[in-house]
Amino acid sequence: MTPEWYTASAPGKFVVLGEHSVVYGKPAVVLATNRRITCSVRRSHRNSINGFYLDFSKQPHINYLTRDTSYCLDILTTSEVPSGAGMGSSAALSAAVAMALDAERGGGLDERGFVEEAYNAELSAQGTGSPMDASACVHGGGVAINIPDEPNELWTISRGNRTWRVTDIDVPELSFVIGNTGVKAPTGPQVDKVRRYFSRNGFAGEIIEEMGSVTLEGFKALKRGDSELLGRLMTNDHKLLSILGVSCKELNKLVNAALPYSYGAKLTGSGGGGCMVALTDSPEKVAEVIKSRGGTPYIMKSGVPGLRMELNPASGTPMEIPTDEA
Ligand code: PMV
Repeated sequence: MTPEWYTASAPGKFVVLGEHSVVYGKPAVVLATNRRITCSVRRSHRNSINGFYLDFSKQPHINYLTRDTSYCLDILTTSEVPSGAGMGSSAALSAAVAMALDAERGGGLDERGFVEEAYNAELSAQGTGSPMDASACVHGGGVAINIPDEPNELWTISRGNRTWRVTDIDVPELSFVIGNTGVKAPTGPQVDKVRRYFSRNGFAGEIIEEMGSVTLEGFKALKRGDSELLGRLMTNDHKLLSILGVSCKELNKLVNAALPYSYGAKLTGSGGGGCMVALTDSPEKVAEVIKSRGGTPYIMKSGVPGLRMELNPASGTPMEIPTDEA
């Protein structure tokens, strides 16, 4: 009998506020997106990925996730999430692989278990980071991290001396447009860059503190639906991220193009390339200006489901598998 396929999908995400500073335990606000990654697995007589030989040394996420698997697997992946672009492709891939594998083994993991699997897979690939992406891609909707006194706790995850308390948030009725610069920028080197700056220069610590305050204020504005203030804080956050050295000229170009038609705009994800996000009442106009400056716009639909099982094997364009990518 041909082995059965097990298929799961997970959404990508974008960070409204708090990337990088969240690695230091500061707050963050993240929304899952309508762009998803789908993964199917089945037992096989050889290891393959999208029809090709699966070289585990080149697939650190999958290598981690299959660490206890004693048989061979066929894996199929398709993606609507650009890789290396700050939209959580590695977390979404890891979560989808983890759930498909878990189902193939008879199930057993809960939401938190999938977050741990996806986060550990990311750590084994990029060595560093927070459970923010994994939490958003598994849970879907919106999540906030380390917001004092916020109810609706989902899970708390600790590594070393850092703790991240993740809460479920109501997805705001706001309109966001993402602009992809097309410049690929893996997460690990950006996080390392900030870490080096942080360990050598007390000023970086002050910037990270300020990013924490901006995010807290932004979270309150988001809850009140105060787009003017939230937008202003997003633009401030972009300036702080730029001081940390994680913006680049392509990101600044798209942020500046979007600003005249937006409440605010900033890079989203690890930066160095990848995507920016604008908060706007004129999504079509912002998408048009992003395009006219050479970027790829995505008008975001939020309030989407998180990690879930799907009925059929993944079909569509096979994804380019991230090695250490956002
Ligand atoms: O670029 P992405 O999608 O991997 O987002 C990274 C977000 C960081 O805060 C820079 C790192 C992290 O793990 O939180």
